[in-house]
Amino acid sequence: MTRTRCDRTPAWAALESAYQKEGHAFDVRTAFATDAGRFEMFSQQAPHVFADLSKNRIDANTQALLFELARQTGVEQHRDAMFAGEAINHTEQRPVMHWLLRNPALDHTELAKEAPENIALELSKVHTTLDAMLAYAETVRADVQITDVVNIGIGGSDLGPQMAVLALNEFAVPGKRFHFVSNVDGHELAAVLKHLKPESTLFLIASKTFTTIETMTNGLSAKRWFEAHGGTDIARHFAALTTNVPAANAFGISTTFGFWDWVGGRYSLWSAIGLPLAISIGADDFREFLAGAHAMDEHFKTAPLERNLPVRLALLDVWYRNFHGFTSRSIAPYHSALRRLPAYLQQLEMESNGKRVDAKGETLPFATSPVLWGEPGTNGQHAYFQMLHQGTDVVPLEFVAVKKPMHTLENHHELLLANVLAQAQALMVGKEDAGGHKHFTGNRPSTFLLLDELTPASLGALIALQEHRVFTSGAVWGINSFDQWGVELGKVLARDVEARLLKGDVNGLDGSTAGLLQKLRAS
Ligand code: F6P
Repeated sequence: MTRTRCDRTPAWAALESAYQKEGHAFDVRTAFATDAGRFEMFSQQAPHVFADLSKNRIDANTQALLFELARQTGVEQHRDAMFAGEAINHTEQRPVMHWLLRNPALDHTELAKEAPENIALELSKVHTTLDAMLAYAETVRADVQITDVVNIGIGGSDLGPQMAVLALNEFAVPGKRFHFVSNVDGHELAAVLKHLKPESTLFLIASKTFTTIETMTNGLSAKRWFEAHGGTDIARHFAALTTNVPAANAFGISTTFGFWDWVGGRYSLWSAIGLPLAISIGADDFREFLAGAHAMDEHFKTAPLERNLPVRLALLDVWYRNFHGFTSRSIAPYHSALRRLPAYLQQLEMESNGKRVDAKGETLPFATSPVLWGEPGTNGQHAYFQMLHQGTDVVPLEFVAVKKPMHTLENHHELLLANVLAQAQALMVGKEDAGGHKHFTGNRPSTFLLLDELTPASLGALIALQEHRVFTSGAVWGINSFDQWGVELGKVLARDVEARLLKGDVNGLDGSTAGLLQKLRAS
């Protein structure tokens, strides 16, 4: 299907004039004062996640135009193409099917009815691997000799499992420590190895391609350390999580769990890359995690756009990025276990949608991915919230709060929830009676996501929600959200610079790189 570029649709033009007329001066406080039903209209329950969008600079008219924009840019068709297994990652000629990793096996015949035969076939591979990986996870959990699990991977092979293991710490098996080593900087691996013994350590070498220089370097050093410290049984102490099993075998690892090229790196937490999480929370809870995400997949697939939460969040992102011109979005999880969520979402959003050409390779005249950043609350309040309240830029903020705590300490949770509510309120209402330094303009937009509890299922749903939201804004912008050619140039240049550093060769280099290289080599 040929899709119309967003800025050439009638809805885009209508949004531009809506912004010029009223949108730029829209005041959320006035909107609440004049519409008693605003909270109901701009909030909704989706699987495991309640969302309040009512504190955003949006009204019924803008929202209707945004839904039109989604329709006119073919978002639904693009979504259906993804779920039909079409090669929508066209620059790599691959389908995009991370959602299949969370499809229950029971749905197999149902799926076969509506999906092409090849998807049903992939699903059976998914479940064979999942069963094997979860059986292995259970063995490791029961193995009291293994006290330390070290995940060596980077990007999607690190951020997802790291974020999720931390988030679901309350569900973790006792007696095991989890470590995540990603950086090629040897300080990171060295600091972890210092506390380990080969006989009680399991190394998971996580790399979709099994070629990534950081992971290969760390993996090799881990193997050398293991052997140098008397370790012999590589099959027991090393496992590889990869689509490239032959490369893992060539590396000397025989225990492997595979996945497929139709799983993007930043979407791979649901595959064998999720093994650290499976070891931590166990097979049943890992299946719950997948089920939570699957519930969100079904919601995204079937809910009308008007009640489709990923779509509503994405359209708001587009409204802010392209019409208000906001350049960043901040995420503030009010739960310390979600402290790696901002880093995870940063890769998801910025590696997916940080593109300046459309699917045909044509330069886009409009903005795409915002900068995504954040820290957990309440910490952020004592660091950069000053700028959110009184700075010159408007930064839409996304709060994530959890209703029920898992601890029994008195007062803490009430205080935490009071703070998250108060921050959202303060951003909106401001303080206009005071002048100068004490003046708060207010009308600063925020979205509030609320989970009942932080469980494997709700975390799964929250992550799938964010994936589909990124999918939707990418679809409106008409870009390929599933490649990442932008990381290649740095990789190629690093190889060249590495050779030059060794030899001191600055021939043909720009003045700055040459100067720095010489400084690094000077004794
Ligand atoms: O930085 C690019 C990238 O390919 C990411 O997309 C990916 O998550 C990361 O590198 C790690 O790749 P791999 O899992 O193949 O080692």
